[in-house]
Amino acid sequence: MTRRIWTDKPLEGRRVVLGVTGSISCYKAADAASKLTQAGALVDVILTESAQMFVTPLTFRALTQRPVFTDMYDPQSPFAEEHIALARAADAMLIAPASATTIARLAHGMADDMVALTYLATTAPVIVAPAMDAQMWAHAAVVANVATIRERGATIVGPAEGRLASGHVGLGRLVETETLVGAVRAAIGVSGDLAGRHIVVSAGGTHEPLDPVRYLGNRSSGKMGVAIAEAARDRGARVTLVCGPIALPTPYGIDRIDVKTTADMGDAVRFVTEGCDALIMAAAPADFRPASTSDQKIKRTGEGLTMDLIPNADIIASATGSFVKVGFAAETQHVREHATEKIAKKGLDFIVANDVTAPSAGFAHDTNQVTIIDEGGRTEDLPLMSKYEVGHRILDRVAAIIATR
Ligand code: PMT
Repeated sequence: MTRRIWTDKPLEGRRVVLGVTGSISCYKAADAASKLTQAGALVDVILTESAQMFVTPLTFRALTQRPVFTDMYDPQSPFAEEHIALARAADAMLIAPASATTIARLAHGMADDMVALTYLATTAPVIVAPAMDAQMWAHAAVVANVATIRERGATIVGPAEGRLASGHVGLGRLVETETLVGAVRAAIGVSGDLAGRHIVVSAGGTHEPLDPVRYLGNRSSGKMGVAIAEAARDRGARVTLVCGPIALPTPYGIDRIDVKTTADMGDAVRFVTEGCDALIMAAAPADFRPASTSDQKIKRTGEGLTMDLIPNADIIASATGSFVKVGFAAETQHVREHATEKIAKKGLDFIVANDVTAPSAGFAHDTNQVTIIDEGGRTEDLPLMSKYEVGHRILDRVAAIIATR
């Protein structure tokens, strides 16, 4: 079996069939087609007749630079039986927006348009993203049809709550493009090398309250941890993200637990690592907390303020279990020495050393430059790369260690 090299572009060269059905939200499908194409996927778009009332084949042709399919019986088609050819070639099929009519077609095995027909003919993972009026979504017929296709293996994404075409607010909006792209990535990753594994990742700094309005904290944005979580999801893992207070959205398909303090993060990590395969601590938990927290806002007196700090427990050092333990070391000097000391001190399989003073690396950047040091002291210097790609280089090692246990 050839080992896959995971890069910045998990969708590169992957075939995605995008079925677009009649809804005002067809414009979002155009955005999804564009984003999937920019991510390197080869996107074959099928438009139903109703979809063509809202958007034209030309829109998708321009965005994907590929032929767009509208007709099952097109004599000009490059394929002898295009529905079968598309269905067989697909790595994933995304139906977005999926109207109530299309969902009924899928549930009842009808093959009277090219979207439904391709759905029936494919063995690739199928993602269905419904969009319709809230009352329609709640109707027993739609509920039953959705349950049927879910039971048969389709992943249902959304709908989201918000303003609908009718002007009412309710459940029925097509989810946003990031969610659609995330769902495609997760579906394609189902057979990755971390399939069936549970990876716990921590992200962000923690906040230690001084009083009701102030806290001790640090500059971790959570980007490194979130990027690792996305990379693990893209390789098929079930991922739990334990986050300090961060301003990033949760990527599709990842379970997230939000915490504030290091003690809370410790409790959450202890709880979710039960039976997991790996813990990757990319978070920057505060090492100290105030010995006491004031119930009221501490007032300015014109004098200085002295505060006692006490140490927090070390989360990863006290983590018990046979899972792989990966630590990070955010250092400003003697990076390798300090990082190496932490491997034994914290009982790690390996550590990711981070010179947080290096340009474009460390806190809040989208890129990072790290050195990976293992238990035996062997080091690997990685060049500056996206945090997502750093995630893959870490997961390459995690997957290899898991395979030996
Ligand atoms: O979030 P970003 O803005 O993307 O920035 C990423 C990052 C710089 C925060 C990240 O790459 C990083 O280096 N995280 C580790 C930060 C840190 O706390 O380093 P440390 O050397 O103090 O801790 C060593 C290890 O012990 C870390 O894995 C840490 O998560 C863990 N730790 C620390 C303290 C504590 N009480 N419990 C712990 O488990």
